[in-house]
Amino acid sequence: MPAGNLKQMRRAAKIAPSILSADFARLGDEIQRVEAAGADLIHFDVMDGHFVPNLSIGIPVLESVRKITRLPLDAHLMIDDPGRYLEAFVKAGADSISVHVEVCPDLPAIARQMRALGIRASVAINPETAPDRVIAAAEHFDMILVMSVHPGFGGQGFIPETVAKLRTIRETIDRRGLEVDLEVDGGIKIDNVATAAAAGANVFVSGSGIFGKPDYAAIITEMRKHATLL
Ligand code: DX5
Ligand code: ZN
Repeated sequence: MPAGNLKQMRRAAKIAPSILSADFARLGDEIQRVEAAGADLIHFDVMDGHFVPNLSIGIPVLESVRKITRLPLDAHLMIDDPGRYLEAFVKAGADSISVHVEVCPDLPAIARQMRALGIRASVAINPETAPDRVIAAAEHFDMILVMSVHPGFGGQGFIPETVAKLRTIRETIDRRGLEVDLEVDGGIKIDNVATAAAAGANVFVSGSGIFGKPDYAAIITEMRKHATLL
C-alpha cells in the first residue's frame, strides 16, 4: 500500500453537523442530540447577505450554543471583512474559525490573528476559486475548508469537481509534511463521504444529511465508517 494511503488511514475522521439545517426553535435540543449521537464538532454557518446571498446566525447565538455543548464550535464565516469579527466570535466561544480566501488579501496575517486569539485557524475556498493561494499559505493554517456547493444555502447537491480540488490540496499538504485538517462542506451525505475521504478530506460537514432525519446516531456512525474505511 502506498505511504499516502497509510497516512490517510491514520488521520482521524471527524463528523461536523451543520446546524444550518437544524430546527432553530429547538436548537439546544438538536445540538445535544447530535452530541449524544457521536458528533465531533458543531459547524456554525455565519452569513452576511453580502458575501453570500443569504443571512443566518451570528455572535449571540454562538454564545448561547457555547453554554449547552462541550463539543468544539467550528465557525464558518461567509462574510466580508472577517478579520473585524474574529475577536467577538472567539469571545463568544468559537474553537476554530474559517475565513474565506476570496475576502482575505493577506492569508498569513489573518492566520496569525486567529492563532494569537488562541483558536484553530482555517481558510475556506469556494468551488470556483483556484486553490493556489490557499496551498501557498497552507503552513499558516490548522485546517482548510473546501466548499463543495456554492456557499449560502443548505440542501444543495455536491459539486463533483470538488473531488479533484480536495486531492490537489491533500497531496500538496502531505508532500510538505504539514498537519492540516481538510474539511469538506456542502452536499455531504452517507453515499459520498467515502469519495471525499479517498480524495483526502478528514472533516465532514453535513447539514441536511443529518438534521431532520429520524436517527442521528445511525447516520453519524455510518458516515464515520465510510470516512474511515479506505
Ligand atoms: C453552505 C454551508 C454549509 C451547509 C451544508 O453555505 O456552508 O455548511 O450548511 O449543508 P448541506 O450539508 O445541507 O449541504
Ligand atoms: Zn459551512
